[in-house]
Amino acid sequence: MSNYHIKHLEEYFQVYRKSVRNPESYWEEIAEEHFMWHKRWDNVLSYDFDKPEFKWFEGAQLNITENCIDRHLRTRGDKTAILFEPNDPKEKAQHITYNELHKRVAKMANVLKAKGIKKGDRVCIYLPMIPELAISLLACARIGAIHSVVFAGFSSKALATRINDASCKMVITSDGSYRGSKTIDLKGIVDEGLKSCESVENVLVVKRINAEIPMEEGRDHWLQPLLDAAEETCAPEIMNAEDPLFILYTSGSTGTPKGMVHTTAGYMVYTAFTFKNVFQYREDDIYWCTADIGWITGHSYIVYGPLANGATTVMFEGVPSYPDHARFWEIVEKHKVTQFYTAPTAIRALGKENLDFVEKHDLSSLKVLGTVGEPINEEAWHWYDENIGKRNCPIVDTWWQTETGGIMISPIPYSTPAIPTFATLPLPGIQPALMDEEGKEIKGNQVDGRLCIKFPWPSMARTIWGNHQRYKDTYFSAFKNMYFTGDGALRDSVGYYRITGRVDDVVIVSGHNLGTAPIEDAINEHPAVAESAIVGYPHEVKGNALYGYVILKETGETRNQDNLRKEINQMISDRIGPIAKLNKVQFTSGLPKTRSGKIMRRILRKIASNDTSNLGDTSTLLNPEIVQEIMDNVIK
Ligand code: WTA
Repeated sequence: MSNYHIKHLEEYFQVYRKSVRNPESYWEEIAEEHFMWHKRWDNVLSYDFDKPEFKWFEGAQLNITENCIDRHLRTRGDKTAILFEPNDPKEKAQHITYNELHKRVAKMANVLKAKGIKKGDRVCIYLPMIPELAISLLACARIGAIHSVVFAGFSSKALATRINDASCKMVITSDGSYRGSKTIDLKGIVDEGLKSCESVENVLVVKRINAEIPMEEGRDHWLQPLLDAAEETCAPEIMNAEDPLFILYTSGSTGTPKGMVHTTAGYMVYTAFTFKNVFQYREDDIYWCTADIGWITGHSYIVYGPLANGATTVMFEGVPSYPDHARFWEIVEKHKVTQFYTAPTAIRALGKENLDFVEKHDLSSLKVLGTVGEPINEEAWHWYDENIGKRNCPIVDTWWQTETGGIMISPIPYSTPAIPTFATLPLPGIQPALMDEEGKEIKGNQVDGRLCIKFPWPSMARTIWGNHQRYKDTYFSAFKNMYFTGDGALRDSVGYYRITGRVDDVVIVSGHNLGTAPIEDAINEHPAVAESAIVGYPHEVKGNALYGYVILKETGETRNQDNLRKEINQMISDRIGPIAKLNKVQFTSGLPKTRSGKIMRRILRKIASNDTSNLGDTSTLLNPEIVQEIMDNVIK
């Protein structure tokens, strides 16, 4: 089967060389052989890094849900497409076959249409990890509506910002969600958020926890009765290759979140191709990615990539620690999971628990293990390898981003020898470059620099919703004719890449991207706060945690500092969400600044990281004396 499935390193190098020598014909062959098109493309790729503009498979027509569902019905109709494992292990798992998925997506799509949703309209999805979440994405795609999923851990303000940015006409939510032993009032969060959203006409509500909730007449509708009344078939909307499929927000180092826009054909081809190769997926595998569909990992590698391959994809509603820390391993055993894809933060957290949680479960079904979201440290890698993979499962350390749509740098199991902490080699078609600060490419091996990609790939985000200039400024202005990732990387003596972390003011906490500027904006709204600076510092489980330096206003009032810390974190929870809370808050009389008034975050990062041996020359600061004060009062 041509170059769709790479089986050994030799073949990888062959395929890679071919993909780089002639990317157009490489991707064309894959697109031709493995997908269902209504009309063939006129042109595989056209691009312009200056505008910037990238078009893949222009002129082609398709619907991604036909590729993810309809075309499997003949051969795999009774196969499980989505295997839903509920929060409570006592609740039965659901096996949703491709036939059933076809019907449920059609019904949902018909409900959306009946509520006035048309091609190009934006629908905000704010749901827990229940089947209706995946079905809502697919229903939008069925009728050409653009979905914008907001992770159901974001606050009402964060939700409202995203709804307003994309002028969503509809919100799909639930009466609440289960999270371990807790329930969360999602509908209450939506109601609060919608007070400041004018574009939303209808809210569809899934019943999940049977909570008594207020329903606003005319706006809010229980979903189930509408589904019951809906037709079981829905003709797919025929989409152009470059029609937007979805918007997904990611944090920037400054300002509002960026609504990354992904389009249809290139995204489909690339996520399907990478899913198959990176996880070495075979027909009878049971694949499980533990991410939430609220993040790109869930979009690409729970929903679209697996379903485009006709795979069985597990959706888990709960958390790794409920009812106890064996939950992940219990699920692996119960469903005989073959590929397991999770985040380093989860591995570190579970690695601290008693090994009995792992050892009482039979994990022999596992074939491939994956990690994503942040650099994996060596200790966690070995724990994963020894205790979960039993030294018998290749580990794929996959580097990619919301913006890249799919995995970019990763080992291919059984082909690429893995080295802990290295994402290793670029996938076919991906051309990384390391750049120095002057904008020159650093050639050769054993070098490090800023990680860029120098040729377009099919699943790259095409713009930032409503702000193409910001797209250009953020990704295409630092280096000419390159996409700049925001990450630093090194290339070792054999050409393997190791991602060293963000080079901008984004901090990755437990695998979640957090811009420091929006957090500073949130806490600066506190009446007692004059100024603040947030930095990341290394944390054993979360990878990074947030450290805040806060200058209080001189009001003469002496407040209890612990209360202030709580209030500051409450402000952050309200404006962004609990994931952005600060682990440590230090009150200080000043912040180190350059003569032009810029905060020297490098110094603050070092102090917070307890690494003060080499602070550099602080004498050129506007206020060098502050450095000692901050060091004396650092919170350990
Ligand atoms: C980081 C998640 C090291 C990186 C798919 C990137 C990683 C950001 C890895 C994107 C990895 C992701 N090794 N760092 N394997 N994977 N990152 O948009 O800093 O949520 O820029 O996409 O996570 O995070 P995002």
